Amino acid sequence: MMFSKIIGVGSYLPKKVLTNKDLEKSLDTTDDWITSRTGIKERHIVGPNEHTSDLAFEAARNAINNASINADDIDLIIVATTTPDKIFPSTACNVQTKLGIKNCPAFDIQAVCSGFIYALSVADKFIKTNSAKNILVIGADSMSKITDYTDRSNAILWGDGAGAVVLSESSEQGILSTHIHADGQHEELLHVPKRNVGNEIQQTIEMQGSQVFKIAVNTLDKIVDEALIENQLQKEDIDWLVPHQANIRILEATAKKLEMSMDKVIVTIDRHGNTSAASIPLALYDGIQSGKIQPGHLLLMEAFGGGFTWGSALIRY
Ligand code: ACO
Repeated sequence: MMFSKIIGVGSYLPKKVLTNKDLEKSLDTTDDWITSRTGIKERHIVGPNEHTSDLAFEAARNAINNASINADDIDLIIVATTTPDKIFPSTACNVQTKLGIKNCPAFDIQAVCSGFIYALSVADKFIKTNSAKNILVIGADSMSKITDYTDRSNAILWGDGAGAVVLSESSEQGILSTHIHADGQHEELLHVPKRNVGNEIQQTIEMQGSQVFKIAVNTLDKIVDEALIENQLQKEDIDWLVPHQANIRILEATAKKLEMSMDKVIVTIDRHGNTSAASIPLALYDGIQSGKIQPGHLLLMEAFGGGFTWGSALIRY
């Protein structure tokens, strides 16, 4: 049986940094409130001419270099994003052009903050069915483009960025399992509605934060059990939790469920904010670059987001 394994990782963050102190100037909020309620201190924000495909391309190029392969060796590109450059073509097609390659299939996946887990799950199946050998799996979002910076209830959360992995066929087990789920019935708790404002249509994030928080914590508990039971593993077998970075208090609750010290959780939310589909691959990159995640370590990735969607991936790095 053929397995899929991560052979390269890359990331990219836009240059502009928006701090809590910056937000204090335009919003009725404080650095103390944001830090204590979310764990966020700063986030990166795209410039006016910078788009999701630009971030995705930079992360992809880094991942390809890190994997020591050529861009031509890529035979499928999947981009998880909620903020594509345009309705079409897909961001994945834009990335393909920027990489200077042709012909390989390329498509986007939209599962908001769970997008990278969804993309990884699909990519794993392409490899296990012998339909691709080297897949670029990218999580990229420019959440600032769909943020209402007058709405303090969620404007403080979002950041922009991209992370990418090259997932390749391998005789060694890399991805042990993926689980993905959705439940569309709570749409109004977290969505981007179309609103008519004057002559314009505005589309920015609306979220009932505390309700989403409670559902996220309960759901993440179940995800952890599902992944461990399926793989007949114990909590203590996990070396690193590489979670979606939505709120430090959600991360702490999941670590508690795993009876895991926060030292075993990769945390980037303080520097990145919530970058939606980019947050897990950005955290993975951070964990590897800092020397925490080493070859052979067992990683549990998990996410919960708009939809609602949620899922996990258990990976031997
Ligand atoms: N600054 C100061 N005060 C604020 C701010 C702010 N930025 N925002 C809200 N408040 C006030 C509220 O008005 C409220 O005041 P009141 O008590 O006088 O009514 C008080 O702070 C508490 O508000 P809550 O909304 O209850 O605050 P909470 O502790 O729930 O934190 C937060 C809000 C950070 C949004 C949290 O609920 C959260 O992280 N939710 C989950 C987000 C999430 O996981 N989303 C899913 C993934 S994202 C995706 O898929 C796109």
